[in-house]
Amino acid sequence: PLIDDLANIHQQEEELARSLGIARCLIVAGDIDQQEKVVEEMGKSVNEALNLLLPLGPSVIAVMGGTTMAEIAHCLTAKLSEKRSLTFVPARGGIGETVAIQANSVSSMMARRAGGNHRALYVPEQLSEQAYAPLLNEPSIQQVVQLIRNSDAVIHSVGQAIKMARRRDMDTQVVAMLQQKRAVGEAFGYFFDESGQIVYKIPRIGVQLEDLTRMKCVIAVAGGSSKAKAIVAYMKHAPSQTWLITDEGAAKMILKK
Ligand code: F6P
Repeated sequence: PLIDDLANIHQQEEELARSLGIARCLIVAGDIDQQEKVVEEMGKSVNEALNLLLPLGPSVIAVMGGTTMAEIAHCLTAKLSEKRSLTFVPARGGIGETVAIQANSVSSMMARRAGGNHRALYVPEQLSEQAYAPLLNEPSIQQVVQLIRNSDAVIHSVGQAIKMARRRDMDTQVVAMLQQKRAVGEAFGYFFDESGQIVYKIPRIGVQLEDLTRMKCVIAVAGGSSKAKAIVAYMKHAPSQTWLITDEGAAKMILKK
């Protein structure tokens, strides 16, 4: 029976990767919406995927924030830095998350766990657009932004659009607009409707969708049946080398459609 289960999961992984048009999917048992523990299994899968995909030698890895990413960070192991020199950077700054789940915090935790370096992006998360723009002219910030946009790998999550907008305390007018345009998913500060169309983009620095195609390793981590629509919407933009680490909850829901 166990062999059957494994064969079954493997088949589902292939089916899911094919339907999303990406390189590979890894599906862990359970549904993160129901059991928090599932995230640890996803974390182990991320660690394994990185170990398979990262070349030996130096790599810059850009990472996003969020609760999933913050949990994943604890699951990376020092095995990753054997024969590798890793630098973790935040993929984007200033998108309004609280400290514990900011990309800066996640990348510093990942560096600690995986045994690498970390470069922070010092731009406040809660800042008006007018105050934000001049910061980008700072040489020290420019330097990190260049490092980020030319990174070799990225690890990111996908979230539900309105939930993310509210969590980040975005303008009520923007939230209303997102609702009106039926945004369902969010990744990298971009909001997508069900057909994958970009309906809004937070005007902030860091990794842009067009940067992803150049990166050798792109890992998306998102699970739970509640994220199924969001995952499908974002994946219309995901570069073909993307690996998705997800759970049965999301996978079953996506494949049902
Ligand atoms: O805000 C950073 C971010 O990675 C978003 O791009 C994504 O939608 C969200 O966090 C996911 O958050 P969570 O893992 O808490 O669902």
